[in-house]
Amino acid sequence: MRKRTKIKEALAGFPAGVELRVAGWARSVRVGKEVVFIALNDGSCMANLQVVVEPGVANYDEVCRLGTGAALIIEGRLVESPAAGQKLELRAERVEITGPADEEYPMQKKRHGFEYLRTVAHLRPRTNTFGAVFRVRSSLAQAVHRFFAERGFLYVHTPIITANDCEGAGELFRVTTLDPANPPLAEDSVDFDQDFFGQQTGLTVSGQLEGELFALAFSDIYTFGPTFRAENSNTARHAAEFWMIEPEMAFADLMTDAALAEDFFRFLCRHALDTCREDMEFFNSQIDKGLIERIEKVAESRFAVMEYTEAVKELQKARTVFEFPVEWGLDLQSEHERYITEQVVGGPVFIINYPKEIKAFYMRMNDDGRTVAAMDLLVPKVGEIIGGSQREERQDLLTARMKEAGIDPAGLWWYLETRRWGSCPHAGFGLGFERLIMYLTGMENIRDVIPFPRTPRHAEF
Ligand code: 4AD
Ligand code: MG
Repeated sequence: MRKRTKIKEALAGFPAGVELRVAGWARSVRVGKEVVFIALNDGSCMANLQVVVEPGVANYDEVCRLGTGAALIIEGRLVESPAAGQKLELRAERVEITGPADEEYPMQKKRHGFEYLRTVAHLRPRTNTFGAVFRVRSSLAQAVHRFFAERGFLYVHTPIITANDCEGAGELFRVTTLDPANPPLAEDSVDFDQDFFGQQTGLTVSGQLEGELFALAFSDIYTFGPTFRAENSNTARHAAEFWMIEPEMAFADLMTDAALAEDFFRFLCRHALDTCREDMEFFNSQIDKGLIERIEKVAESRFAVMEYTEAVKELQKARTVFEFPVEWGLDLQSEHERYITEQVVGGPVFIINYPKEIKAFYMRMNDDGRTVAAMDLLVPKVGEIIGGSQREERQDLLTARMKEAGIDPAGLWWYLETRRWGSCPHAGFGLGFERLIMYLTGMENIRDVIPFPRTPRHAEF
């Protein structure tokens, strides 16, 4: 049996006259006079391969009754296509129907709304938009690894089940094997000593703290893994399960951290433009006009840097009416972030040095005693896409900050010990992978850039 050729290759690399075996799903079947046209797609690229089936083919009558969505293996010869818009088409000699599809197949040719497509997430990968989204996603994941490999960063797998809540926030999903209807009790509260791990555990909200331990041995490291947050925020930018990339560098300060974030982000933009061209052109014409131009610009530009204090001043002089209050000491809301990056800067901007009260305990205290060495990268249309900081490497200050934040230092004894032996200035950041894919594709809802989204009340598939 002849080896299968992917459609991407068939369209790119073969001259007319070659005999091929292809396989895929019918995107459309058009029965003409004395001929059937099948648009075949196998997911390898956006373009379909036009297949022409003539009555000489053994099961021609069956082919005439084929529905959109059917899975087919086709052998035939590539020929020059008389039709406009395509160079080659496949003249079928044999059509094997491995999985027919009837007229109730939900991905019929007409356009569907994204909301509807989420209810058929098992089939939406077979559409143009989601084909493009998941090809870009896959390619970008590989680009992430390439970026760090080229720079000598160690890839570390941090745990998914953890006993520490990294940010000290109450957004942890519990992991337990106790019977919820009948948990063991000790003095009226649940006795987690009898749980699987002998203590309370949850799903990780960040690999950072463990990442730091590795940075203090390997100098430059990164993690790239699933991350879980039980925040009940039903927004277009939050998922309960998402992927995060977290580099961490020893002997680095905040501005070194920002420089890495800028290089990284621009590298990923460049990669999408150069490696995912066909899909990016689709997004540019169908989803977000101006997308390619915007990403081209970012890939070439230097990112702005603005102090938090300055950002607050800009917001206070803005003529826009914001829903949330603006005042030094309050966190920036998404509407504020977007105003700064879209209206004030007109491009990516790092906001640095936030008030300590609104940031995590591990961020390094600045000399002013009021702000910490934090940085958020804001980009147009998405808002915050990266959050990072220089870490507090001084054991006494770190312990004090933990106590202030209501975190028991005993629970993070191992984290504190790295400040006792061989501590050094170090810094890192987290990039939300779905936010990146949203930015690069123009897709506006995080549910549409992750294969099977997990959000409040949704865990299907
Ligand atoms: O700003 P965050 O919370 O930072 C951290 O977790 C640090 N430990 C990172 C570090 O310094 N190593 O999250 C980092 C990024 C955000 O900027 C955002 O892009 C993404 O993770 N993110 C989410 N993405 C999707 N859904 C959510 N619920 C997200 N929460 C954060
Ligand atoms: Mg953040």
